Amino acid sequence: MLPVFLREGADEPVPLQSMPGVVQHSRESLRQAAREAVEVGLGGIMLFGVPRHRDATGSGADDPDGILNVGLRDLRDEVGDDLVVMADLCLDEFTDHGHCGVLDDRGRVDNDATLDRYASMALAQADAGAHVLGLSGMMDGQTGHVRRALDAVRRDDVVLLAYAVKYASAFFGPFREAVESTLEGDRTTYQQDPGNLVEALREVRLDVEEGADMVMVKPGLPYLDVLSQVARSVQVPVAAYQVSGEYAMVEAAAAAGMIDRDRAILETLTSLRRAGAQVVLAYWATEVARSL
Ligand code: PBG
Repeated sequence: MLPVFLREGADEPVPLQSMPGVVQHSRESLRQAAREAVEVGLGGIMLFGVPRHRDATGSGADDPDGILNVGLRDLRDEVGDDLVVMADLCLDEFTDHGHCGVLDDRGRVDNDATLDRYASMALAQADAGAHVLGLSGMMDGQTGHVRRALDAVRRDDVVLLAYAVKYASAFFGPFREAVESTLEGDRTTYQQDPGNLVEALREVRLDVEEGADMVMVKPGLPYLDVLSQVARSVQVPVAAYQVSGEYAMVEAAAAAGMIDRDRAILETLTSLRRAGAQVVLAYWATEVARSL
């Protein structure tokens, strides 16, 4: 599956310095990327919005005219059901402080207040036509809360992909440029400790109990052991996300003549598959699918 960025107000695609070869799309170039994805036989596309304005509660996220929801409508209009259309369901692209949730009066992420924001986003994304919602915010209880909100309006057809295992990782670095987000503080109160495997398995179990249809492990390459254990422990499809820093690392080394780019790309993707991923999100998806 191909992750893509859509920038509000862009007339042309905008290249990203920290991810050479990846762009922030305009609405038109996004449609073209989706058509290409269908042509080469990709399974799906994951959309991230890059809004022009941000505020404390991330109000652009559940606005039907917000950039992410506009992009979802464009995508469904373009590809119908030929490609699985997935939406990132998280607030960090839309908040001015860059956190994945809303803050309390002491400046800490307020888990339960954030759940209501996620429910509202979920309804907006379902209305905009998303087949799958990618719950990436790492709030406790998010999967169950969103599932109940969708059930209440009889949208049990919408699939939930829970980012059950998401580590507080340096490998998300280039993503910040991609969505133009600056983070105040860090995410260690809601993302996971890289040294902890047991918590990953517990998070997966909770998400499946809460109604997740698929679970994700993220990042990929530094967490192959986690991916492998998760894949063996659940009865739902398991996805792996090869994140921005993994992409940048290979591209930078290849550009410096240090490694064979094409072989390195295939090798990293193969390792995710070998470790047990049934779904892989990768910024190289279109290129690789074409060459295969
Ligand atoms: C949250 C989200 C992030 C990524 C995907 N969804 C950022 C974060 O949690 O810091 C990172 C993806 C990547 O690095 O490629 N909206």
